[in-house]
This record gives sequence, C-alpha cells and structure tokens, in this order.
Amino acid sequence: MPAEPVSRSMLFQRVAIIGLGLIGGSMVLAAKRSGLVGSVVAADSSPDELALGVELGVIDGYGSISEVVKGADLVVIAVPVRATRVVLEQLRPSLEEHAVLTDVGSTKGSFVAAVRDIFGGCGPRVIPGHPIAGSEKNGVSAAKATLFDDHKVILTPLPDTDEDALQRLTGLWEGCGATVLTMDVARHDEVLAATSHLPHLIAFSLVDTLAGEDQNMEIFRYAAGGFRDFTRIAASDPVMWHDIFLTNREAVLRVIDHFTEDLEQLRRAIDTEDGATLLRVFSRARAARNHFSKMLSGQAYVTDMSQKAVSFRLQPGGSITGDIRVPGDKSISHRSIMLGALADGVTEVDGFLEGEDSLATLQAFRDMGVTIEGPDNGHVRIHGVGIDGLQAPRGPLYLGNSGTAMRLFAGLLAAQPFDSELTGDASLSRRPMGRVADPLRAMGAVIDTAEGGRPPLKIRGGRKLSGIHYDMPVASAQVKSCLLLAGLYADGMTSVHEPAPTRDHTERMLAGFGYHVHRDGATASVVGGARLTGGRIDVPADISSAAFYLVAASIAEGSDLTLRHVGMNPTRTGVINILKMMGADITVFNQREIGGEPVADLQVRSAVLRGIDIPEDQVPLAIDEFPVLFVAATCARGRTILRGAEELRVKESDRIQVMADGLRAVGVETTVTPDGIVIDGGQTITGGDVDSHGDHRIAMSFAVASLRATGEIRVNDCANVATSFPGFVELARQTGIFIEAEEG
Ligand code: S3P
Repeated sequence: MPAEPVSRSMLFQRVAIIGLGLIGGSMVLAAKRSGLVGSVVAADSSPDELALGVELGVIDGYGSISEVVKGADLVVIAVPVRATRVVLEQLRPSLEEHAVLTDVGSTKGSFVAAVRDIFGGCGPRVIPGHPIAGSEKNGVSAAKATLFDDHKVILTPLPDTDEDALQRLTGLWEGCGATVLTMDVARHDEVLAATSHLPHLIAFSLVDTLAGEDQNMEIFRYAAGGFRDFTRIAASDPVMWHDIFLTNREAVLRVIDHFTEDLEQLRRAIDTEDGATLLRVFSRARAARNHFSKMLSGQAYVTDMSQKAVSFRLQPGGSITGDIRVPGDKSISHRSIMLGALADGVTEVDGFLEGEDSLATLQAFRDMGVTIEGPDNGHVRIHGVGIDGLQAPRGPLYLGNSGTAMRLFAGLLAAQPFDSELTGDASLSRRPMGRVADPLRAMGAVIDTAEGGRPPLKIRGGRKLSGIHYDMPVASAQVKSCLLLAGLYADGMTSVHEPAPTRDHTERMLAGFGYHVHRDGATASVVGGARLTGGRIDVPADISSAAFYLVAASIAEGSDLTLRHVGMNPTRTGVINILKMMGADITVFNQREIGGEPVADLQVRSAVLRGIDIPEDQVPLAIDEFPVLFVAATCARGRTILRGAEELRVKESDRIQVMADGLRAVGVETTVTPDGIVIDGGQTITGGDVDSHGDHRIAMSFAVASLRATGEIRVNDCANVATSFPGFVELARQTGIFIEAEEG
C-alpha cells in the first residue's frame, strides 16, 4: 500500500500501540499533546486496560494486533521485552510496507535479534528505541503526558535505517518532550546494563536479603531516608525486570562480575582493617558522584556548582577597599596534586585552589587509583602511589576547561604502562595540543589527536621514552612542564630550552620533592629514573586572581586594598611590573619565601594610569593577565600598545579578539593586530552587553571595567569563573564592585 500523504505538522497519521501500559499510554498522551499524530489505536492482552484506555480518552480505539497494525504508519511495541517475539509474529502479516516499527524496551540487542528471526532481516524502517523514563506504577491508569518531559530517549538505528523514518521518529519523541540520543545497539545494552540493570538488581537483592534476615520485617521500621532512596527501584515491576535480565544476559553478567570483584575487595579491606583502601574507594566514589551532573552536561568538574548559565549584572561605579586573600594559585595547585600523587609517602597541601580546573586534575588522579582526602578548606592530603604506581583509569579522563591539566597529563601519561584518553569541554576541545604531542612523539610516545592536533588525546601505554633536547618555538610553561614530566620516565636526559622565561613552578616543586632539576640559563633538564618524596606544600594566593583587584583598586577612585599572601614568583609578576610602569600605586611588603615560592602582601591604591608600550619581555610573565590589563589601558591616559602576544589567541578564548569585541560592546574602540592590540585610553566605558565566550578571565575583567563605566554592564556565560576563582562574586561585592550573578 502506498504511503498516505502526511500533513506538515503531522508526523504519523495512524499509530498502533501494542501494549497499553504506563509507557505505551504515556507515549500516546504525550504524542497527542504534541499534535504530531492522528488517530491512535491499541492492542493489549488485557481487555480491561483497553476499555479503560478508551474511557480515559487515551486511545481512539482498539482491536487485535493484526487489526490495529493494518493501515498504521507507526507501530510501537510497548510490551514486556520477553513478549516481543510473539507480538512480532502476530503483527508480521499486517504490517504496512511504509510503516515505521519501533519499540520501547530496555534491551535493544534482543529486539533486533527477534526482528531478524521473524522478518528474515531488519528493514530500513525498523528503529529500536528506549525512553529512559518510568515509574514504579503500572498500567494505563498511571499514564501521563509529561512522563518524557526532560528525559532522554535512546534510538539505536541500524546501518541501513531510512533517514526520513529516523527523523520522523526523532521528531515525535522530541514532540513528546524528550531529548533524543542515538547510539549503536551493543553500546546501548552495555551502558544500560551498568547504569540501570545492575542498580535494579542490587536494590532487589538488598531488600530481599534484609527481608529474609528478619521475617517480620521489623528491621524496615528503622530504615532511614538513605535506605528508602537507595531501594526505591526495588518497587519496580518484577515481570519486566525478569525479562530485562534474561534478554540482556551477557552485558549484565559482565557488569555483575565486575561489581562482585569490587565488592569482594571492599569486604577484604574491612576484614583486614585496610582503611586506606576504604578511604580510596569511598573518596573516589564520592567525587565521581559529585562529578556526574557536570560530566553529563559536558562541562568542567565542580562539586557544588549548578549547571545553570550564569551572567553578571554590574552597576557602574564604586571604589575598592578591604584586606583580602584571593584563592590559591591554579598552576601550583595542579602541580601539587600531580607530584603528590607520584611521590612516595603522603603530601599535605594547604591553600589548594578549589576551582574546577584543579579539581579536574584531582579527580583524574582519583580515577587512576590515588587516594586523595579533601579538599577541605584548601587542605588536601594525597597518599602518593610512587612514580610507577598509577593505575589505568576505567574511562577517558575528563579535564573540563583546563589546558594546563591536559598538556601536563599528556607528558605524564605518555610514559605509563596503560592506554589513556584525555577529553575536555568545548573550549578545551578547540585548543592546540600538537605543541605537546609533537615533542612527545619525538621522545617515542604514541599519541593520536583529533583533526588539527586538537583534543581528545589518545595516548598509547607501554612505550619506553627516550630523553630529547627540545627548543620550544613558543614560550610555554605548559609545554616545558609536560616534557619535564615525561622526562621523569625517559631514558637519559630530557632538556627544554625556552625562548623567554616562563613560570617555573614545575622545576621548583620537583626540587622541593627531592628530584634534581638542572638549570643552565634558559634550559631546564631532568634525568629519568629517580623518585619523588612527598612533603608539605603551601599554595600562595594566585597572582592571576589578585590581578583583577590590582587593576580594580588602581582604576577606581578612592580605593585602598590589601592583598595577602600573594605568590610573587618572578616568572609571574609581569602584571605588577606593567601596572607600575603605567603609574600604579602598588606597595610590596612582608616579602618571604614559603615552600620554595616567594610570597608577599600587596597594598594598592587608586592612581592615575598612563598608556605604555608594553615591553615584549613582560608578555610571558603576564600572559594570563592581559584581559584585565586591557581594562587598565582603557582607563589610562594615552595609548597602550601590546605586541608579541599571539599566544593570547589560543587561550580559553581568543583573548585579543574577544576583549576587543567586549570593549566595543561598552563603547571602547581598539585596534586589533595579529599579535596584540592598540588601546587609546580615556574613552568612556558605557554600559552594554558583553559576550565572555565562556572565558573566566574575560568575564572577571568586565566586572572590573564596571568601576569606571557610565551604565550597566551585563556579561553572559560566566559560569567558568569557577574554574579559577570560586567566590569571585562575593569577594568582588565585599570589596566594592556592584555585582549580581544571575542564574538561568
Ligand atoms: C600555565 C601556563 C600558561 C598559562 C596557563 C597556566 C601553567 O600557559 O597561560 O594559565 O600552569 O603552566 P602556556 O604554557 O600555554 O603559556
């Protein structure tokens, strides 16, 4: 029979639902609500359910399977998965050639196998489906039109699935309120075995065990909320779950075996009073649990941040006062976890930055079997596993927004005995990784990248690396550190020459852990094969975060601010040098050295700034501070010229262009050059809407600009401020910036 013409808004004229239970009934209600389907008829083994379906207005009619399937252009099988075969046999003679055939079962391999057996193959309009939604209630009376709203539906198209059929079925599910994902059949069954089938099995089993232990079920009286939450799914339909386990047998058995081993390991740990193992497993699990929501949304790691979009709304004016300490240094925090994990013994870290970037690094080491306690108010205790003690992670290591983590990890992982994969968020996935992959390959590493040397990085394990000498074409601390970390494992000496001084935290911290680093002018070298010894690390406040306040207090009239415990490593103090050249009033006092890093307190007062030609040798020393320095230049008298800073174009965003666009949005014209910018100071900063491109430092720079604006500034896409500066908004408000963060 030829296909009937389908009206534009209607995707299917006549839908046949086989099995009018909770899912089938809800799908009909949701589809009708969407207006995308015409009539809906149903077949079911229970005449009562069908009669109820008509009475409740869910379906337009019913009949036998062959009656309802005849003339239908969409047939949905919504029966328990073990009944699928019988249904397919019954509907086969009446199924229209043009009809799309789908199902809603939790296992997809079994559905495809049954269709192949009965139809002799899977036609192009057979599209297995699985809505990830449900309820402990059964039957059409529990059906509701909203069941799929904001839920996922997985479709598992086959290689020769008809594209038009797939699009229409996708459109229908989207009309039902769901988000549609596609994946292949085998992958679906593996994923569901782990994330749905195993938890149901455990819930059934646990409740049964406890019920068996206490015949009167007295024990449940004392069950607290945790037990109720954990075992909620044990109230699900036993017949359905019996079917699911028998039809997804292989995938489920694999994951049960895995879980049994892990449970046995915990049992052993309790038996032998092995607290370290318990701590490792629990803290890794807790962190992973906190990680889930962010991982699923493909964003960076954070334990307590909502997934909502954040924007800043800033009222003009204000002056900056107070006595503050900004959060810990990001570069040093990353390295403290990395070296602490590889060291022998315990490393205690204070002042650790609890921002998303360094938490991503922390999580990745937990994923590789390292026990890490905390962070708790900046305190972290790392139980080092020794230079050869990392274990293979079970999946890709997700590094969020952090270029530093990805590049340093590349060096470290290139030398491990196991394969690994490094992934990141959209911004990180655009950043160049060839700069580390190429020299690592020269050392013998095997690394695959996506096109153009971008992430993800797939790193082959089991390679023996050899030391090389590398002349860095760009001044990059990340590249230098990556190669030095690989060099810890390489045969012989690895040496890196830098064209200009870059931050040397890796070298300092390696030395602090007892690993000799040889310095010869602009070349740093390590010889592979030695060991690291754990110790204490005091992370100073991040000068890159302090920079926002240095500029804020300089440009806002009537300001006087003290910043405590700021890291003053000479490879990082470019921002102070540049601001002083511009006439800033910054006093450095209480200079001291803590744990191999210079630290000081800073006092900054408002000053009249003047434009300067920024010396190129200051560029690597202030590489992360240029966005806010552009704001200083805007407020200065005269012209500021920046050259030799093309690296800014490959940071979390293209910081030259994005700042120029943002400044234009608030009424400031600049001239962009390939390697820098020219800013004529003294222009009025008006209000306006700024696009931060998800770059934390752009967002914070415009918060600072508001101090000298004449109208309200709104900055969008600011959630990533949490990558480097948790608590920025509160601290900004406390010191005198009129800032509100809005979610949504
Ligand atoms: C960093 C090095 C710099 C810097 C980044 C942190 C580090 O990057 O921009 O924020 O911790 O080594 P490059 O090495 O790419 O210049």
